[in-house]
Amino acid sequence: MALAFKLPRCNDRAGTKVIQRKMRTQIGIVGAGPAGLFLSLLLQRVGIESVVLEMHTRKYVEERIRAGVLEQGTVDLMHELGVSERLKRQGLQHGGIELRFGGRGHRIDFRELTGGKCVTIYAQHEVIKDLIAARLAANRPIIFEAEDVSVHDLESTVPVIHFGANGVVEQLQCDFIAGCDGFHGICRTSIPSGALQIYDRDYPFGWLGILAQAPPSSHELTYAHHDRGFALLSMRSPEISRLYLQCDPDEEIANWSDQRIWQELRQRLATMDGWKLTEGPIIQKGVTGMRSFVTEPMQFGKMFLAGDAAHIVPPTGAKGLNLAVADVRVLARALAEFYANGKTELLDRYSEVCLRRVWKVQRFSWWMTSMLHRFANDNPFDGRRQIAELDYVTSSRAASQTLAENYVGLPMD
Ligand code: APR
Ligand code: PHB
Repeated sequence: MALAFKLPRCNDRAGTKVIQRKMRTQIGIVGAGPAGLFLSLLLQRVGIESVVLEMHTRKYVEERIRAGVLEQGTVDLMHELGVSERLKRQGLQHGGIELRFGGRGHRIDFRELTGGKCVTIYAQHEVIKDLIAARLAANRPIIFEAEDVSVHDLESTVPVIHFGANGVVEQLQCDFIAGCDGFHGICRTSIPSGALQIYDRDYPFGWLGILAQAPPSSHELTYAHHDRGFALLSMRSPEISRLYLQCDPDEEIANWSDQRIWQELRQRLATMDGWKLTEGPIIQKGVTGMRSFVTEPMQFGKMFLAGDAAHIVPPTGAKGLNLAVADVRVLARALAEFYANGKTELLDRYSEVCLRRVWKVQRFSWWMTSMLHRFANDNPFDGRRQIAELDYVTSSRAASQTLAENYVGLPMD
């Protein structure tokens, strides 16, 4: 448990906030998303103390709609950490996906192509609920509604996190800080810009996503290439469908009536064999932009970046959550080694080890996005080339195996 001691409340003459309470822990974790929470449980399992700081309320992070495809490795880790009871009951195991183009569907059989591996459909916010419940059940700290979180002295022996909680300005002294605060967080931007190399690409389109009270029209995910743009049929449960369609990056959701959304999905998902899209009341809709983003290195001094704080992938490969989990597995192993034997070799190689996987996953996500979306400046040649690529991927064992092994999750190093 983090040690705490209270100090008198005041602001200094300059009016800047004065620390009123100091706490001490081994690992200060900023952000209660998948990266921060999985890390906290991985550390807890080997007896390493940590404090998780989250700017939002518990309710907000547990209800935030995000994606929902778990690689085999992420599912295995949830079993290992003992947080998979609901996943076992509610998760939908999928042994393949369908690629649909030219009005025809083509199945990629993961189990056959990867020696039995599959993916599990289980919403990210349900994963968050399971992780928070386990963390709090073990009476380990998650400070929700942490205000004005900032990180300091990153190159010193005692990096610190300042934050406000219930009107008290607190200082959390740490051995190390884990920056798990997502793309828009403060950790990455607290690193002197000269110390980081940024690689990025914005895509000239976005995704309009809906949740619908409609039984899924297919029993596996369907990725559709169409002249009118990409479409994806996914699901959350036997009653709830999750669907996406390619739109302009700054698309106004107000311009999309439910009727127009269903009509566009019908057109883009249509097949020649009379397959029918099951429609229903739309219970949530929104537009998200698409980018690829990588920060190198993923460490500065005693702070380690993990998940979206260090890298973003377009959602077409369903990799965001799984890549965050892969990062913190590497970080937890390195911290365990440090606290067990004082060795820093794995910590020193954290960035290098993670970035090898990050770039492979970036490549796969960019490839899926490029193969399945229409680019405004494409000419008819590009349209034909995309169809040829889809035809190759769905007719060549070698090519479909490449897709399958990336989709179910590359082996952890
Ligand atoms: N102080 C405290 N918490 C913060 C701050 C801050 N200044 N800024 C952001 N956070 C919190 C956010 O509220 C969020 O709960 O950090 C958390 C970051 O979580 P995610 O954005 O989910 O990032 P990550 O844990 O890396 O998981 C990546 O999440 O966004 C999806 O598609 C993404 O699937 C990927 C996964
Ligand atoms: C989702 O179910 O939200 C989902 C599925 C597959 C993707 C992206 C999102 O590639």
